[in-house]
Amino acid sequence: MKIAVLGYGTVGRGVVEIIDGHVGSVAVTRILELPDRLSDPRMTSSYADIVNDPQIELVVECMGGVEPAHTFILEALSAGKHVVTSNKAVVAEHFAEFVEAANAHDAGLLVEASVGGGIPWIASIIKARRIDAINSFCGIMNGTTNYIVYKMLRDGSDFAEVLGKAQEMGYAERDPSADIDGIDVRNKTIISASVAFDVACTKELPVTGIRTLTKRDLALFGSHERTVKLLGRGVQKDGRYAVAVEPVAVRTSSLEANVPLNFNLVTLDGDTVGELKFYGQGAGSLPTGNAIVQDILDCASGIRPRYDFSRGLTYDPELLRSDYVFRTEADIEGSCSYEPGAVLVRDLTAEQARASLELALETDPTTFIAALVKES
Ligand SMILES: NC(=O)c1ccc[n+]([C@@H]2O[C@H](COP(=O)([O-])OP(=O)(O)OC[C@H]3O[C@@H](n4cnc5c(N)ncnc54)[C@H](OP(=O)(O)O)[C@@H]3O)[C@@H](O)[C@H]2O)c1
Repeated sequence: MKIAVLGYGTVGRGVVEIIDGHVGSVAVTRILELPDRLSDPRMTSSYADIVNDPQIELVVECMGGVEPAHTFILEALSAGKHVVTSNKAVVAEHFAEFVEAANAHDAGLLVEASVGGGIPWIASIIKARRIDAINSFCGIMNGTTNYIVYKMLRDGSDFAEVLGKAQEMGYAERDPSADIDGIDVRNKTIISASVAFDVACTKELPVTGIRTLTKRDLALFGSHERTVKLLGRGVQKDGRYAVAVEPVAVRTSSLEANVPLNFNLVTLDGDTVGELKFYGQGAGSLPTGNAIVQDILDCASGIRPRYDFSRGLTYDPELLRSDYVFRTEADIEGSCSYEPGAVLVRDLTAEQARASLELALETDPTTFIAALVKES
């Protein structure tokens, strides 16, 4: 199979390296690169060279961002080419539109690398769904924030200090907002929910990151045998579903609490299979490249997921309820005391917790919240 790779950065290089070195049945014949960086005879800066080439059967998009990735993916699908992408931002924004185009032109659309890097997460959801309804999923889906919390706990460092080091080492972007404000996990949660629940997942989910986490917060939760992890979560029941991204104070004995460095851990719960957990490298050139090449090989052998978002599940935030700890100087309605400087509010939806947090931030911009998820 002849393929083209759009974007020759961290992920694109990994894909080309794996295919050139390990996979004889696939050939990268074109690479879309910017005009001043054409260093390989396969490179072109004209997308028309790729989308109009009838020999190219599959396009790998790893440029990132929403445009022009969105336009290029639609053009490839409309030309009947299969698309494999690692770009969570564009998939979260346009999943339903891509599915419609893929179905209309009998093309494959594979998005494994957009969630959990090298972990076969999307493929596992699809496989589980052949038998089971997925009742819920949750996970540590962002390596940078896991790394920050891990280092804060291990070295007793401040948030800003660890973030600075992570940026120096290239683990975190110069603008860390997508990681620490939960936007990256939001995109991955939307994609996971879409595949797990067969729904064009709402983009209006409650999203809270860990920007205001301090080492004193970690000590406070530590004294309750808990630690903080940023989790993406989804649940479905009786034709309804809910999703949220927020810090969760998990038990220190849980697998989630013990995920080190920048690793990811994602969990699904299926009707008959029960709980399955997937652990691994959620980013990086070769792990992410590996997930893309697995998608390419699946596509080449005719394994092409068919998504169907027509089930009509209703978004119902009532399905995700937890007790919440607010560490804040602000007054929080309906709260009782938890620890000096922190209060507990029982049984809020993630949306209600987010709304209370927004109010609290107006009085105390350092406010931090974490959900105390009920143990099953
Ligand atoms: N890095 C990871 O470990 C990882 C893991 C999972 C998923 N992803 C996702 O995979 C995608 C790529 O990530 P990455 O880390 O590989 O990013 P990256 O290192 O920035 O690579 C993207 C490359 O595409 C180039 N590019 C952008 N627009 C282009 C265009 N119109 N024509 C030609 N080239 C263009 C960029 O050039 P400039 O640098 O000049 O903009 C850059 O070289 C993102 O959506 C990311 O979220 C990344």
